Amino acid sequence: MKILVTGGLGFIGSETVISLIENGYEVVIVDNLANSKIGVLDRIETITGVRPDFVKVDCCDKEALNQVFDAYPVSGVIHFAGLKAVGESVRIPLAYYRNNLLSTINLVEAMAAHNVYNLVFSSSATVYGDPKELPLLETTPLGETTNPYGETKKMIERILTDFNKANPQFNIALLRYFNPIGGHKSGLLGEDPTGIPNNLLPYVTQVAIGRRDKLHVYGNDYPTEDGTCIRDYIHVCDLAEGHVATIKYLEEKPGLVIFNLGTGKGTSVFGVLKAFEEATGVKIPYQIDPRRPGDVTANYANVDKAEKILHWKAKRDVKQACFDAYQFQVKNPKGIE
Ligand code: NAD
Ligand code: UFG
Repeated sequence: MKILVTGGLGFIGSETVISLIENGYEVVIVDNLANSKIGVLDRIETITGVRPDFVKVDCCDKEALNQVFDAYPVSGVIHFAGLKAVGESVRIPLAYYRNNLLSTINLVEAMAAHNVYNLVFSSSATVYGDPKELPLLETTPLGETTNPYGETKKMIERILTDFNKANPQFNIALLRYFNPIGGHKSGLLGEDPTGIPNNLLPYVTQVAIGRRDKLHVYGNDYPTEDGTCIRDYIHVCDLAEGHVATIKYLEEKPGLVIFNLGTGKGTSVFGVLKAFEEATGVKIPYQIDPRRPGDVTANYANVDKAEKILHWKAKRDVKQACFDAYQFQVKNPKGIE
């Protein structure tokens, strides 16, 4: 069976392509390289021994996307393609609404035109906003998003839910990721942001190899045990395996489903630094800065639903993820060329 993976050269997409291949799926990747390098394709081949089909297409180009469906008969789609930098989305909101919404609408229309009915969408825990209660369940009411990026995820969830009501032959999974970190155990793939990293782990690994002097910890006066924010950090390879489980589930069970993909465990920023030091032996210098606007104090998932229905559970811990992220950074100090 062939799966179309949009954004399949990105951080989560590339790991998912590997998991799909390892589980016997054929893959065609669509990516416009807006935030990824073509070299990722070679690395997927090195790791799996298989070179997936790749078409450089912008999902906002409906005609080109339809041509991909004409050329490659597929049984399902995993839709990772999207812009994801929170701060950038505040500066250029229209680019985010255009790219993330239009690419999804084009994709669903192309799927309908080609009788492809199984879709997995990359949503985010950001749709829960500032949680009133923890852990977060899939039934927890959605909250106010704090930036245009988060709002695109909430809007797309709504669009796909409405679409599914009108087109019940579609099987759609909305996967709410918590905080993906880590990299492939080979050290060949990992998070490779352009410019100054927004996210914690890539910043930490760049400090660890001396590319940056120190980490800026955004606030130590939160109402948590050590004063820093708490997140549910999930190893990207566990997340990738969650997608394979979801694709298998959609092949058997019709309808729209929502799953949290996290570990169920919260870790503070200082907790991550401790795990990083234990995993790598590298102590990260830091300074405390003011809180970052839009950050919530804590979020972590209840993952019972995915465990029960998908028979999937995160297996790797934060220490393992820190080690794999560090390995990738050491082997690729300037990222993937
Ligand atoms: P990424 O930027 O590494 O990967 C996204 C890929 O999509 C990139 O390769 C980019 O070139 C491609 N892309 C973007 N717009 C496109 C378009 N219009 N047409 C074709 N390709 C396009 O990001 P990631 O971390 O791998 O995230 C994948 C998905 O998961 C995104 O939708 C993201 O919003 C979502 N997500 C990520 C996180 C996270 O912390 N990484 C958390 C929650 C949700
Ligand atoms: N942090 C720092 N210093 C940094 C970067 C981050 O102290 O240089 C802190 C943040 O304040 C936060 C924690 O580390 O407390 C995690 O921050 P990230 O930016 O790594 O992750 P976020 O939880 O803010 O956001 C991530 C993704 C979003 C997604 C969200 C879902 O970036 O795309 O998880 O919960 F929507």
